[in-house]
Amino acid sequence: MTIRPILIHPDPRLKKTAEPVSDLSDALRTLADDMLETMYDAPGIGLAAPQIGVLDRLIVLDCVKEEGATPRPLIMFNPEVIESSDDKNVYEEGCLSIPDQYAEVERPAEVRVRWIDRDGKLCEEGFDGLWATCVQHEIDHLNGTLFIDYLKPLKRQMITRRMQKLKRERARA
Ligand code: NI
Repeated sequence: MTIRPILIHPDPRLKKTAEPVSDLSDALRTLADDMLETMYDAPGIGLAAPQIGVLDRLIVLDCVKEEGATPRPLIMFNPEVIESSDDKNVYEEGCLSIPDQYAEVERPAEVRVRWIDRDGKLCEEGFDGLWATCVQHEIDHLNGTLFIDYLKPLKRQMITRRMQKLKRERARA
């Protein structure tokens, strides 16, 4: 497995709509495995394919954070929210493509998601708490939406300027 470089905002590839996956190939399974390894290495709790420059509808997540708890890596091809609760939840969100920046985002507290797993099986499950927030955040990436798009323009611009500065510094290093 390979750790892939994660794109940093602003990047045009993070604003594109990803394409549905039609056939599950070994290449796609390898991509998913690489994404999980990249996510754990970062470390993060979710990663979407566009974040490593691949415009396929593929996300990975594992929101088990307690030390010593059994990990629950999920690989989702073509994930779709098929039901959202009216109840909302506010979480302080971050993103591996926007390092060290956090802001509160309100989203439906519970969602039902349908996806195709690593074996090509159609799955459906309800998520709440951090899992619900994370899966919605990752699916947003497949539609070119970042969590900062939910913030007021001024705050979003401030974060974007910080990221431009970070990228300049990294390019020089
Ligand atoms: Ni993200």
